[in-house]
Amino acid sequence: MTTDHIFDLSGKRALITGGGSGIGKAMAHALSDAGASIILVGRRKALLQEALEGRDGMVIAADLLAAAAPQAIYDACADAGALPDIIINAAGLNPRKHADDISPEQWQQTIQLNLNVPFFLSQIFVPHMKQNNWGRIINIASLQSTRAFTNGIAYGASKGGVSQLTRAMAEAWSKEGINANAIAPGFFPTELTAAVFENDAVASHHAAMTCIGRNGGLEDLTGPTIFLASEASNYVTGQILSVDGGYTAK
Ligand SMILES: NC(=O)c1ccc[n+]([C@@H]2O[C@H](COP(=O)([O-])OP(=O)(O)OC[C@H]3O[C@@H](n4cnc5c(N)ncnc54)[C@H](OP(=O)(O)O)[C@@H]3O)[C@@H](O)[C@H]2O)c1
Repeated sequence: MTTDHIFDLSGKRALITGGGSGIGKAMAHALSDAGASIILVGRRKALLQEALEGRDGMVIAADLLAAAAPQAIYDACADAGALPDIIINAAGLNPRKHADDISPEQWQQTIQLNLNVPFFLSQIFVPHMKQNNWGRIINIASLQSTRAFTNGIAYGASKGGVSQLTRAMAEAWSKEGINANAIAPGFFPTELTAAVFENDAVASHHAAMTCIGRNGGLEDLTGPTIFLASEASNYVTGQILSVDGGYTAK
């Protein structure tokens, strides 16, 4: 007998915000490779379609900063008969502003997209998950959930919130079969971290901060994503799984 079945996502449907690029796209592909149908959400439709190419699922182009976005996304899924069993909240932004300079608008948008949207988008799909007595929510935390980095005032506040949001979601919903966990990535090369990876000295510094001695590659997210989205993590909830090469271990 093999244990493959506990990682099998056949018959499951996953909605991934930020699914058109970077970490969200990598996690969406991991779930698709494990058998799930994927719903990719983001603003750039062409990017979403490219990420979906050749895979089972659909795309929903939406600006998550719009107040009506969670309901509109719910309606698009319901109309397609495609309510998700798994939600990955990967859309995010980092204004990289010093505490002296950040504007109220930049602050609000960061907290809105990184913290408020993961809650309200999840909340709207929870009744469907409760009906099945099964669901998975995966949030994306950060090294900045627990550490202060330069120019990270709003981003760090939002990601600190994401960690606690994850624990509170687990407390609220796990008894009904809905496990909520977060992945806290180290440094991965994406659009969001272009400023880090464009500077060799900065990128090398972060690589040296890890136990493994390198920054992340998007393929490093495959196993942790499938684990947290599948039966394999039935008794794991309210946890923040660092996928950071041991950055936070030393
Ligand atoms: N890369 C890292 O090293 C790292 C480390 C720790 C945590 N993270 C977290 O990982 C998550 C994904 O980031 P990433 O690094 O993969 O960067 P990314 O490629 O820039 O991904 C951000 C995604 O969010 C979407 N997005 C941004 N604003 C949006 C809006 N208003 N409405 C809808 N979608 C929106 C973007 O798509 P559109 O522009 O098409 O809307 C994009 O797909 C973020 O939560 C980030 O904080 C990243």
